[in-house]
Amino acid sequence: MKKITFRFSGSSTDFYPAYGISHLKEITDPLTTVLITDEHVYNAHTQRFKNWNTIVLKPGEEYKVQATADAIIEQLAEMEADRKTTLVGVGGGVITDITGYVASIYMRGIRFGFIPTSLLGLVDASIGGKNGIDVGVYKNMIGTIRQPSFILHDMVFLNSLPQPEWENGFAEIIKHACIKDAALFAELENKTLKQYRSRQKSICELVQRNALIKIKVVQKDEFEKGERRLLNFGHTIGHALETQYELSHGQAISIGMTYACHISRQLCRFKQTERVAALLQQYNLPAYASFDRQKVFDVLKMDKKREKKEMNYVLLESIGKGVVKSISLDQLGKIIGDL
Ligand code: GLY
Repeated sequence: MKKITFRFSGSSTDFYPAYGISHLKEITDPLTTVLITDEHVYNAHTQRFKNWNTIVLKPGEEYKVQATADAIIEQLAEMEADRKTTLVGVGGGVITDITGYVASIYMRGIRFGFIPTSLLGLVDASIGGKNGIDVGVYKNMIGTIRQPSFILHDMVFLNSLPQPEWENGFAEIIKHACIKDAALFAELENKTLKQYRSRQKSICELVQRNALIKIKVVQKDEFEKGERRLLNFGHTIGHALETQYELSHGQAISIGMTYACHISRQLCRFKQTERVAALLQQYNLPAYASFDRQKVFDVLKMDKKREKKEMNYVLLESIGKGVVKSISLDQLGKIIGDL
């Protein structure tokens, strides 16, 4: 089996691209492993969980909270899980985040790995080591940075992925193209979501290319002191919108990306906002929305990217070249009010 090992500051992650969950037993012993998944994934792929200890959670971001972590911990204790136990999150971002979080605190930290089942999970949420839960309207407010021991890809899970989840994944793929990869941006402009969905080879290549973009950024800056901040492109306004309005993560960050382009025009002379907006719309994502500026700004001020009265904001100098600028909250409030 071909695996690629990526080193981080104090650990490493074995990456098994396009493998299949049937190989999991070669990576971790079923007797000392507990899989954590949600009802959607479990019901659509029950056979794949056969012979594995499994905890099945209710699906949805509203369950990414401490109460769910406590419930998992109680089940682990009942199963007599100990410090030799490995947890494997099999699911989208909610499942991998909460699995990594519980694994980081259960008995002060046990081994964990991920099998991402959504496009967003494959290219983004399973990578990077940030694991956590939401507290009220504050997304990912509590958590840890700890890398998974392994990430295994099984593209078969994509067969049961609903259309809105494909769009969520493409929002992060477009983000990667905007901040790091102008050639990927051009490739995306020349294709459609339908084409990627229907061609196994192109979706596999796209997933691996994007997973590598994220892994490389995280390797350079695991604890988000510089380069890694680029991955927050679209997420500052995006997260604030996501918690205030009925929007998916992909929709919220798409709107966030367009507004970040407008701010980039003012502060970095970025000239391609409409090209970014057009690409988002090509992948069924919204580029604009009307929203309560004050309400969104009030939530945004609590964002983890704030440092005292300054916000580290990700902007574009050009397509494929993201930069981080520190903007005072006063200036940001004025810009957002005028958008
Ligand atoms: N778990 C997602 C990240 O670390 O960015």
